[in-house]
Amino acid sequence: MLLFSSKKELIAHLATLKNTSTAVGLVPTMGALHKGHLSLIKKAISETKVVVISVFVNPTQFDNQDDLKNYPNTLDTDLETLKTVSEELIVFAPSVTELYSGNISSKEYDFDGLDTTMEGKFRSDHFLGVATVVEKLFSIVKPTKAYFGEKDFQQLLIIKKLVEKTNMPIKIIGCPIVREPHGLAMSSRNERLPKDLRDKASFIYETLLAAKEIFGTKSASNVMDWVINKFDKQPEFDLEYIKITDQDTLKPVKRKQKNTKYRAFIAVYANGVRLIDNIALN
Ligand code: PAF
Repeated sequence: MLLFSSKKELIAHLATLKNTSTAVGLVPTMGALHKGHLSLIKKAISETKVVVISVFVNPTQFDNQDDLKNYPNTLDTDLETLKTVSEELIVFAPSVTELYSGNISSKEYDFDGLDTTMEGKFRSDHFLGVATVVEKLFSIVKPTKAYFGEKDFQQLLIIKKLVEKTNMPIKIIGCPIVREPHGLAMSSRNERLPKDLRDKASFIYETLLAAKEIFGTKSASNVMDWVINKFDKQPEFDLEYIKITDQDTLKPVKRKQKNTKYRAFIAVYANGVRLIDNIALN
């Protein structure tokens, strides 16, 4: 396994491996790797010859400085974990100065409204920071394919839009959510939950599953009210939002249409830890 912290050295190394037909896969991460990340990496290994994992806690996507401060920094453990998957991986773990070259700020983007709801609404400028860092990583690695988890479904749509708008020749691959045995979506933030609450947090996924069932016969607003009511009775969980939207545009549902795919999205605080999840409804 090779570890790079310099963009220049990574670019030079990739140039020695690439010819025009070499497929390069990129899995961007912020470290604290868990089974969700490993599923993306395994998918990348199965589809591309050269696989690069970036490990970088991106300051511009955090609206909350405490969240940034508390974000786990576990590069040594992450490298050990990656070795168990494959010795062939290339890891890119730059410093903030290296990646941002002294200008730690986000670019402006137009995502056709995909960024104005849910995570974009509750975490101001979050997606500008995500897109800025992902565009930087894309321009350094120049991957054929890049892999993102569906837990951050809105992020996945925004990255697809970024690639479309900037005409980068990169295929964006969305990978299914990996869950803990009780159903909680895997996330680096789960580590910050006390054990009993981590088990109880399966309530979030159970509620989404029930919402999916109810959506078969009820309107989107009936289902959202039902979820709000469920969370009102759960003092340990503080519901930030529940939204049911068109899966492609993230626009709210006015009246259900036959050929439209819908998805429910949720954000919940548990003991100060912010958890998100989503589910396809049809
Ligand atoms: O999903 C994440 O971990 C981050 O948002 C990403 C895509 C690595 C950008 O920092």
